[in-house]
Amino acid sequence: MAVPATATDRTILAPDATIETPALIVSEEILHRNIAEMASFARSHDVNLRPHMKTHKTPQIARLQLQAGAIGITCAKVGEAEVMIDQAGVEDVLLAYPTVGESKFRRILALLDRARVVVGVDSIEATEALGRLATQQDRTVDVFIEVDTGHHRSGVPAGEPAVAFAQQVARQRGLRLCGVFTHEGQANSAPADEIEGIALAAGRAMVETAEAIRNRGIELETVSVGSTPAALYTPTVPGITEMRPGTYVFNDNSAFRFGRLGVGDCAARFAATVVSRTSASHCIVDTGSKSLAMDPSKAHPGHGYIVGHPDATIVKLSEEHGEVQIPDGEAGFAIGDRLEIIPNHICPTVNLMDEMFLVRDGHVVDSWKIAARGKVR
Ligand SMILES: Cc1ncc(COP(=O)(O)O)c(C=O)c1O
Repeated sequence: MAVPATATDRTILAPDATIETPALIVSEEILHRNIAEMASFARSHDVNLRPHMKTHKTPQIARLQLQAGAIGITCAKVGEAEVMIDQAGVEDVLLAYPTVGESKFRRILALLDRARVVVGVDSIEATEALGRLATQQDRTVDVFIEVDTGHHRSGVPAGEPAVAFAQQVARQRGLRLCGVFTHEGQANSAPADEIEGIALAAGRAMVETAEAIRNRGIELETVSVGSTPAALYTPTVPGITEMRPGTYVFNDNSAFRFGRLGVGDCAARFAATVVSRTSASHCIVDTGSKSLAMDPSKAHPGHGYIVGHPDATIVKLSEEHGEVQIPDGEAGFAIGDRLEIIPNHICPTVNLMDEMFLVRDGHVVDSWKIAARGKVR
């Protein structure tokens, strides 16, 4: 862990702030700084920013990202796009996910009256089905091909397979192939000192693939990459035109591992209360698996990082109980103590909550509905 968490790390809530727990709290100051810094990075590298909204799922935050200069928003699911277009006024959405199914394609086509929606494709089946429906409705849908640059999740392998697929997509009536995108998510699990090399290799693979597609006479405007750990590297490869980081808006306990982020960069936390105590070294907080997502973190053991208590470990979660272990000899927590927990993986954690509470100068000043939570279709 290159940026160690310390006992002096600051909580965002003042000791006298009142809030019922468990509650997802967001520091306005850190949120605004994270948004501004990524926007400034994109501008200085002459790359368009299209943040992934999966992390916040909240119209107010999408609007902040657009005001800071984002050209549009990335979503995975059609339901997320519906919320972003109808409630945040987003005019340009990329669905960076392999959407399949006629009813979803119909919903996408309906959205085109209100916004540009670019659809990611990685199969001929989805390409043909979307193209057929668009042609029937006398529409043309912009599509990007998803390219696999090493994450090996979805996407067509970079190089010749992507070029061959691009030629098939370009022939499909009803569609306009205008970009390629990748999620270089292999950087997420790599050792910190390997992230830059992995990101640059992914960026070069994208640019070479895009060039090879253009050499077959297909005009591609966009070469899009997206990952928070790789965000400072992949977009620097000449020829990359767009970046889509998502987690950067909040950051989390897993982000400490990358070496450039610390507790002060984590905008979203859980306010939790100690509700039971069996000994000085063992207590229960009111954040269980219905508050904190279960993902592990390679940065810190357990189910989250307790701000200011780097040696305390949330050893186990049941639905409404978080079991905290404190090393022998250290002062334990008392019933009623309020703690701030940085989740291991903020994105699925946000999806568990109805609202987030905005904190300014140590106190809650607003609450925002997480309008796209649960929008998984
Ligand atoms: C397709 C796609 N683009 C962009 C991102 C953003 O990556 P990160 O969460 O590392 O910022 C993700 C994350 O899962 C993704 O799946």
